[in-house]
Amino acid sequence: MPEPPHRRRAHTRTRDLERYADLFAERTQVMRSSAMRDLMAVTARPEVISLAGGLPDTSTFPPQTFAAQMTRIAQESAAEALQYGPTEGFEETVDCILQVMGAEGMLPDHEDVIVTTGGQQAIDLVCKTLVDPGDVVICEAPTYPGAVPVFCSYQADVVQIECDADGMRIDELEDVLAKLAAEGRRPKFVYSVPSFQNPAGVTMSMGRRQRLVELARQHEILVVEDSPYGLLRFSGEPLPPLYQLDGGDFVIYIGTLSKILSPGIRLGWAVAPPPVMAKIVLGKQASDLCTSTLTQYFVREYFAEGRWRNYIASLVDIYRRRRDTMLAALRDHFPAEATWTEPEGGMFIWATLPEYIDTSDLLARALRDDVAFVPGQAAYVDERGQSSMRLNFSGVDEREIEEGVRRIGKVVAEQMELYGAVTGEHPVQAQRQMSAGKKGEADQPDGGDVLPFRKSGEGSQ
Ligand SMILES: Cc1ncc(COP(=O)(O)O)c(C=O)c1O
Repeated sequence: MPEPPHRRRAHTRTRDLERYADLFAERTQVMRSSAMRDLMAVTARPEVISLAGGLPDTSTFPPQTFAAQMTRIAQESAAEALQYGPTEGFEETVDCILQVMGAEGMLPDHEDVIVTTGGQQAIDLVCKTLVDPGDVVICEAPTYPGAVPVFCSYQADVVQIECDADGMRIDELEDVLAKLAAEGRRPKFVYSVPSFQNPAGVTMSMGRRQRLVELARQHEILVVEDSPYGLLRFSGEPLPPLYQLDGGDFVIYIGTLSKILSPGIRLGWAVAPPPVMAKIVLGKQASDLCTSTLTQYFVREYFAEGRWRNYIASLVDIYRRRRDTMLAALRDHFPAEATWTEPEGGMFIWATLPEYIDTSDLLARALRDDVAFVPGQAAYVDERGQSSMRLNFSGVDEREIEEGVRRIGKVVAEQMELYGAVTGEHPVQAQRQMSAGKKGEADQPDGGDVLPFRKSGEGSQ
């Protein structure tokens, strides 16, 4: 049915940017769209294999459990569950959060915790509380792509510190802190995802964790530890969170149930020293008054059932297999020049291709073959990351992981051939290895070291 004429006119007018341009706040000029959000629209097509999202596998959550819990809430607490709640969150929700933090050895005070609408809101509230335009915020390179739009919208001056296989290069951080001190600039905080980092999959070593916490004390700067994946470890020994090492003086901790229960419930939290927390609470009041009461009731029911640890254990088993499948597929289908990380947990692998390949261009080509990944540039505020990509292994099954990586490998091979044809520089070794079919680890460059982040020298932070 054709649209009525008055609707058509309104549409044309409302799409006229000039009409509103003068009204926009200055900060909108530096606001960036989240690369993953943009991609979600494209990857929603059922034929697309998306290795782009940061999606946990929610199909593993038993529907009967969900139905039983929601029914109980409806029958026993409907009026309360449908009502507003306190800005800080319900005490019972905080009890659940303390159980989760306790599983990683942390024991914060009840009053130091605020329940937020996902971990994402906690990042936003920390910035709202601490960052004025032009303030320095330090983070990893690459950093969580979803934090980049937040830092940008608060007009932070973002300084990114390189990562290697042991996480953020703390020696580089020390240099940056010294340089900033010499300029009389005190960074507002250092943002880090120390365990199974999004996007690189790397984990900060014990030595670096200790040194980072020492530096925070020495320079009296805050560290924001964002840790959605800490309990999703597949191999290796657990490492203490920064919050535990510091005791909560200089570390603000951000957690979430998104990756260990459900992102749809939008339940995260922050733990901060009381004076900082008081401001965060005011910030949250202004943002959304309180986190969904219904969600908090669900979490309460779920934890009361006592099977939350078993559910995480089942996710760990599934994701370990998927990680292994992705690593094998990368060995089979990516060229010899490519490198990638081998995460001990979490949901992501970071792969780096020859530098003449731009992964944003590659994505456009890959989408035509119905496969998606996140181009590396989304994890930087500058031009870095152009030849890298983030690959997610938690959101699709093993068959799709293998097929998705195969399709990307095919597109990479085409790009490399094209480069060779245009420049005359044939990437000989790569082509030989690609056509040799299946490759084992021994075929990797540098004797099997497949990490794009080379280990730095002994004792280096
Ligand atoms: C490092 C990191 N922080 C925060 C978030 C956002 O989590 P939530 O879904 O709880 O808002 C994510 C989600 O991918 C993440 O990887």
